[in-house]
Amino acid sequence: MSTILVTGGTGYIGSHTCVELIKAGYDVVVLDNLYNSSEAVLDRIEMISGTKPKFYKTDILDKQGLKKVFDENKIDAVIHFAGYKAVGESVQIPLTYYENNISGSVNLYEAMAAAGCKTLVFSSSATVYGSPKSVPIREDFPTSTTNPYGSTKLMNEHILADVCVSDPEWSVLLLRYFNPIGAHQSGLIGEVPNGIPNNLVPYIARVANGTLEYLRVWGNDYPTVDGTGVRDYIHVVDLALGHIKAVEYAMNHKGAEYINLGTGNGYSVLEVLHAYEKACGRKLAYKIMDRRPGDIATCYADTEKAAKLLGWKAKYNIDDMCRDSWNFTLKNPDGIK
Ligand code: NAD
Ligand code: UD1
Repeated sequence: MSTILVTGGTGYIGSHTCVELIKAGYDVVVLDNLYNSSEAVLDRIEMISGTKPKFYKTDILDKQGLKKVFDENKIDAVIHFAGYKAVGESVQIPLTYYENNISGSVNLYEAMAAAGCKTLVFSSSATVYGSPKSVPIREDFPTSTTNPYGSTKLMNEHILADVCVSDPEWSVLLLRYFNPIGAHQSGLIGEVPNGIPNNLVPYIARVANGTLEYLRVWGNDYPTVDGTGVRDYIHVVDLALGHIKAVEYAMNHKGAEYINLGTGNGYSVLEVLHAYEKACGRKLAYKIMDRRPGDIATCYADTEKAAKLLGWKAKYNIDDMCRDSWNFTLKNPDGIK
């Protein structure tokens, strides 16, 4: 069976993807510097899947460390999750973001090329669509970014497109995620945000468990169903399953492809809050605040390309996502240790 290197494999999306890779019969090697995750995640992956992936505590900025991973393993394909992801922070410390997300990624691609491994799945983001003119958003819509984090995603897309032009042996899938939320149904792995969360569902989870008092709703004067922002929330397990299909596709086709991973459905902030109330069984407080700078009104995916190329479609709904988020929150009050 093929061996897949998962960078950022102890992180939120990476850990769920490792579980699904192992279930699909792949050998998994995880590389992570544990900047935003814990080694205990590997035990959780084993508890769910029956296999503990081989682990390298390595930084993608460390070229020798990368070489060692490729020297010691015959890697057939790489899924590259490792990176920094906080939009606000990227505005404060852009160079740190460019160094980690661009220089680190280029190191990885160089190590892959040197080892003759030219099959890659890259974590991009719907943030590369900037302020889309219409919804649903198709992959051929124009791209632009409004913050350094988004720029690192778009630059990686450009770098990888250039690599594919320069060498037709490369196969690269650029997956543009919409808003991943939820957790594994077991409650053993999920998202553990650092500090006070910026993203909606991790914040609501803290209101639900009483560590935060109320949700601040960033604006209710958008042209949407109830005036609050609309997003395409996708269950992290669906997203992980999308990666299995993406790896299979990449191993059988050459060149670069851009693919949205979303559900195609949009939910407003208040609709998500109400779904979470159902999941946790009580009313949750909220206050309407001013709009958050940089936010857009509505964002959801056109999912046809993923269905056609990968044969993949999300199957979990917003109630499933909130139920699994709440289950994980209840079971892991101190995160994953
Ligand atoms: P995460 O922070 O949970 O996982 C990222 C992992 O990468 C962490 O375990 C961290 O320790 C590791 N890492 C960071 N820098 C590293 C380095 N230099 N060397 C080695 N390891 C390093 O984040 P996530 O939510 O699982 O996101 C995974 C990827 O998906 C990221 O690239 C992110 O930008 C992208 N993405 C995430 C979202 C989202 O909402 N979560 C949306 C779109 C795209
Ligand atoms: C944000 C990032 C985006 C990144 C994505 C996934 C910004 C501007 N965009 O997207 O680049 O790819 O996360 O990590 O930061 N909301 C509230 N109160 C809150 C939090 C959020 O009302 O406390 C609202 C927002 O205004 C938005 C929706 O909930 O309408 C979703 O917000 P969020 O979870 O932060 O995701 P995005 O803004 O879509």
